[in-house]
Amino acid sequence: MNEKLIDDIKHLLQWYRLNYGETLSIPGELSFDLEDEETAPAIPVPQPAAVAREADRESLADPLKIHGDHPRLKSFYEEIRNCRNCDLSQSRKHFVFGMGNPQADIMFIGEAPGRDEDEQGFPFVGRAGKLLDKMLFALGLKREDIYIANVLKCRPPGNRDPLPDEVLQCEPYLQQQLAIIQPRVVVALGRIAAQVLLKSGDSLKILRESEHSYNGIPFIVTYHPAALLRNSGWKALAWHDLKKLKKHMAGEL
Ligand code: URA
Repeated sequence: MNEKLIDDIKHLLQWYRLNYGETLSIPGELSFDLEDEETAPAIPVPQPAAVAREADRESLADPLKIHGDHPRLKSFYEEIRNCRNCDLSQSRKHFVFGMGNPQADIMFIGEAPGRDEDEQGFPFVGRAGKLLDKMLFALGLKREDIYIANVLKCRPPGNRDPLPDEVLQCEPYLQQQLAIIQPRVVVALGRIAAQVLLKSGDSLKILRESEHSYNGIPFIVTYHPAALLRNSGWKALAWHDLKKLKKHMAGEL
């Protein structure tokens, strides 16, 4: 057996053990079942969330994780990091530019920083971020393999939806990040990211079920991890969406 296959099998078994414990029973197709941090089974195997938390701590000490020393991304970050284009700049603690690998093939797009992200200056570092890490792990990916950014770079007070004017001011930043990073696939996490980038008023259901491209780049729409934390019944549907990403990664789409 080749090493890659052995690694994949190990990975799958670790993921299964993490989510289901020691009993191996596969009811039909393997579904996407991710537990909240609080209810996750306490199994003495290295947990992806723990690994990711370490990576996050490292990234907090190393702002290079924002731009990876990529010349264009770095200079764009320097150019916009003190943005005062809208009122959110008054209440923010951090301008949350994004983080990850500027050479990534896959870019995930969220909505806006929440409280934890505002505190720390990095996207998806709170509970939704931990779930995102598990979603990545289930795909065989780590934070360092992708780039993540949000539509808004500053936290809307009380985590309300972005206002049209805030999106108007901030979206060009995201467009520029996409133009610099040039991912091979874009994944929109939730309705807002999908509607903004696709210039659509369609529901998440319709957006998830249709094929899209963004400036010629395949564009996958799935649930926001925060929505999956609220309604775990959607996790199987999210896994269905992420299987499209797997196919893109394998060059099958
Ligand atoms: N939700 C988002 O959409 N983005 C973040 O960075 C965190 C939570």
